[in-house]
Amino acid sequence: MDTMQNDRIRLDGRVIAVTGGGSGIGRASSQLLARRGAKVLVADVNEEGGRETVGLIQSAGGEAHFLRTDVSKEADVQAMVAEAVKRFGGLHGALNNAAVESNTHAPLHEEPLEQWNRLVAVNQTGVFLCMKYQATHMLKNGGGSIVNIASVAGMTAIPNLAAYVATKHAVVGLTRAASCDYAALGIRVNAIAPGAIETPMLRDALQDPQARDHILRMHPIGRIGQPWNIAEGVAWLLSDAAAFVTGVCLPVDGGYTSI
Ligand SMILES: NC(=O)c1ccc[n+]([C@@H]2O[C@H](COP(=O)([O-])OP(=O)(O)OC[C@H]3O[C@@H](n4cnc5c(N)ncnc54)[C@H](O)[C@@H]3O)[C@@H](O)[C@H]2O)c1
Repeated sequence: MDTMQNDRIRLDGRVIAVTGGGSGIGRASSQLLARRGAKVLVADVNEEGGRETVGLIQSAGGEAHFLRTDVSKEADVQAMVAEAVKRFGGLHGALNNAAVESNTHAPLHEEPLEQWNRLVAVNQTGVFLCMKYQATHMLKNGGGSIVNIASVAGMTAIPNLAAYVATKHAVVGLTRAASCDYAALGIRVNAIAPGAIETPMLRDALQDPQARDHILRMHPIGRIGQPWNIAEGVAWLLSDAAAFVTGVCLPVDGGYTSI
């Protein structure tokens, strides 16, 4: 079923910033949000990927613009919000999706400090900075909706991935904390915890037959997810259909966290 054809949830007139929009889940979400009527600011360190996403949206008749943004840099994040306002007249929604993975899979005592710092800077501080400046704008301009991409690794541990697991738990904590701060002020803040999704981030693991089998066994649904599976949840949480939903971390994981 091509749910990209499902246009029940509309986002007409909304301006939405998507970090990490140049690849995988961020790209699929940018495309779906644009299909549903949103103007999308695609923000990524990957200029080629980000521009390609914008091209895909525009060739399908949607509105999008790319801005090179490193979410771990405060000035870049401020510029991202300013660009959405300048280019499209506001910022009503945000998908904070950019993240990096660990290069090594090893127990905590073998985790290089440099890797820990890199993951914290992008996955954790990046989400903090994005919410800080998105909320600053939204508080003065009628509210909004923010979705952060966590992971099943933000709800349970995955062995040999301490830094990644810690940063994704932090995303869930930041989501809950911010949802309390802003619930009565017109900003909803939610997270999605994807299971294994077929994107460049998971490419290496999926090419190893043993690792692929292990991943499949961890998902009761018996298959690996596709980026559009996550995009559908993102579109719903960003839309008024989820008007009474805030502070949740929604697993979209083929049952991973239910076993
Ligand atoms: N693929 C999976 O199985 C899976 C599972 C659970 C959670 N996630 C999460 O989903 C999100 C998207 O992952 P994906 O699988 O689409 O990965 P991906 O590698 O395809 O895309 C990540 C994007 O983030 C961008 N990015 C990296 N560092 C950045 C920075 N400092 N500033 C701005 N952009 C930056 C990359 O350039 C890339 O375009 C991530 O938060 C990831 O942790 C993925």
